[in-house]
Amino acid sequence: ARRHGSYKDLPVPYVIGHRGTAGYRPEHTLGSYQHALDLGAHVIEQDLVPTKDGHLVCRHENDITATTDVAERREFAGRKATKTIDGTSVTGWFTEDFTLAELKTLRAKERLPAVRQRNTLYDGRWDVPTFEEVLQWAEREGRRLGRRVWLHTETKHPTYFRGIGLPLEDRVAKLLRRYGRHRLDSPQFLQSFEPSSIQRLSRLVDTPSVVLLSGAGSKPWDFVASGDPRTTDDLVKPEGLKWIASYAQGIGPTLDLIIPKDAAGRLTKPTTLVANAHAHGLVLHPYTMRNENTFLPADFRRGTDPNAYGDVFGAFRTYFATGIDAVFSD
Ligand code: G3P
Ligand code: CA
Repeated sequence: ARRHGSYKDLPVPYVIGHRGTAGYRPEHTLGSYQHALDLGAHVIEQDLVPTKDGHLVCRHENDITATTDVAERREFAGRKATKTIDGTSVTGWFTEDFTLAELKTLRAKERLPAVRQRNTLYDGRWDVPTFEEVLQWAEREGRRLGRRVWLHTETKHPTYFRGIGLPLEDRVAKLLRRYGRHRLDSPQFLQSFEPSSIQRLSRLVDTPSVVLLSGAGSKPWDFVASGDPRTTDDLVKPEGLKWIASYAQGIGPTLDLIIPKDAAGRLTKPTTLVANAHAHGLVLHPYTMRNENTFLPADFRRGTDPNAYGDVFGAFRTYFATGIDAVFSD
């Protein structure tokens, strides 16, 4: 029997609304998620970080300087800090230094207002949602639409947060259990750049759908921390894929690992990654289709020609022709 609601029943290729609709609304707000659903995205993506009092909130980074009005809020001026996150020094305001009640007083804003299609029109309209609010929203929208609303949820900097006593995975699993999204037949993907985080999630939820994200030429931070010599490049080779398939259902490679670009930024020949991953039963969810930094000519990216769009739809077709199962899109 078909597993009702399994990711295997999604219409391939399915579209994952990246940070909601980050190109149109301030990312990771309920307004951004709603717009993604209204535009027809099959799955809605969240990134998760914790507050000081252990709640999970949706932000791409724990540094909220660029995506909220925190820098304008005088009462929080003293919270500005410099920290080392995954080996990089970062100065700003961090979610783990705010209680949820404090964080809820902030307003979300667009991080890239200078880019076409990204504007300040919606700044201040929404707050920072908790993961629990998103689960409730997905249930509500599912009832309204008469179908399941899929989510694709990422643990951000899991080793770092574990190190400061705010582990993410058990909090995620607890909420998934409460909202009935903890089984393979539930509309929920879980993802991380760190293999140990999705392995933990796999153990904590019943029969999960987990996806390992992979950048090009990088190394998962948990491998750095544990001294594991493997790099991302090792993981996308057949032996690495076999290892991933022992605990995960999919991989989320950067688009460059599917079709590398030449020096001029043009797409070249697809790699064998799609076929190799499928041979191990892994679905592919590459990131990120967004026009302003993926498919536009270089002079647009430098801001000299705001009307010159590249062949975005042609690029979509080229990528879909490789057999990928889904794509993260802004
Ligand atoms: O989760 C897929 C994609 O979102 C990974 O990149 O940096 O946007 O979280 P990032
Ligand atoms: Ca993400």
